[in-house]
Amino acid sequence: MSSAKTTILVTGGAGYIGSHTVLALKQAGYEVIVLDNLVYGHQDLVEKVLQVELIIGDISDRSLLDNLFQNRNITAVMHFSAYAYVGESVKEPAKYYNNNVVATLNLLEAMQAAGINKFVFSSTCATYGVPDVVPITEEHPQNPINPYGATKLMVERILADFDVAYNLKSVRFRYFNAAGADPEGRLGEDHTPETHLIPLVIFTALGKRDSISIFGNDYPTPDGTCIRDYIHVTDLADAHVLGLEYLLKGGNSEVFNLGNGHGFSVKKVIETTKQVTGKDIKIVECDRRPGDPPVLIGSAKKATTILGWQPQYSSLEDIIAHAWQWHQKRHN
Ligand code: UFG
Repeated sequence: MSSAKTTILVTGGAGYIGSHTVLALKQAGYEVIVLDNLVYGHQDLVEKVLQVELIIGDISDRSLLDNLFQNRNITAVMHFSAYAYVGESVKEPAKYYNNNVVATLNLLEAMQAAGINKFVFSSTCATYGVPDVVPITEEHPQNPINPYGATKLMVERILADFDVAYNLKSVRFRYFNAAGADPEGRLGEDHTPETHLIPLVIFTALGKRDSISIFGNDYPTPDGTCIRDYIHVTDLADAHVLGLEYLLKGGNSEVFNLGNGHGFSVKKVIETTKQVTGKDIKIVECDRRPGDPPVLIGSAKKATTILGWQPQYSSLEDIIAHAWQWHQKRHN
């Protein structure tokens, strides 16, 4: 395959979505270098499971980046490293603006200096804020309601300006709710602290927690709980390979939503986890969590049309079953 010698730098490749994408890149025949500061990433997954080169370092380190870009034949950068706790971003915005925006700008400037002009960026549906209409298309106005979403939107704007001024071509992916795990059980989600619904429901099924809290049962949805578009992490990873190949073929900068186009309520996620695991799961109904939009569902028609992306694991049962398989292995 023509891509066999193409080297891709993956920042944050020791994290959840980054590591699954490294696996997909390897399977597609690319050479991968992971750059990760291991604040949240997992060295064992990169070195033992993925068996690719890991450089432990920070994207804010300009001399490290300059050395890397001078000495290695890197064709494109995939950028996953970011802080992604919405609640924390409200309490500590400086940390988020520094890491997600300032450090990313440092990375982009180093790329520009080295003449590397292909970039795949992890953005988020959190850039839309509370949608006026669902399913959300890429044209929907972006009005983030928390600093995390704002940092991602800022980088999207930086990328648009860098394209005009420096010819930096980027694919910006706005993920809906990343979930699930590698279907073969090699990789999965391992956040500390964990705040996301599906892993927390699974921890309850595993007996690591007494109960799962439902944050709000009075939303304007059929069962009163929030609805999200859960997208399998392996499907996200596949989209990244397609986005990279689109850029390698000379594609122009583009933005794509990545979601399944249908949503599930918090109660439906808990019910499905009960069925998949065969375990009883105690529920505690709590107040709303500040900043949660009632319904987030994405239209990914553009990714389907332009990139040929087709999610393979769109059923909630598959997503939860793969996560269940991973967490039993990783945490028991
Ligand atoms: N939820 C609960 N109980 C919990 C955890 C979550 O009821 O213990 C609810 C939330 O209130 C929300 C839904 O489950 O309604 C999903 O919550 P997650 O925390 O799993 O995910 P979010 O929808 O908050 O995800 C958001 C954005 C993503 C962004 C992510 C960052 O949708 O784009 O935060 O972590 F990337």
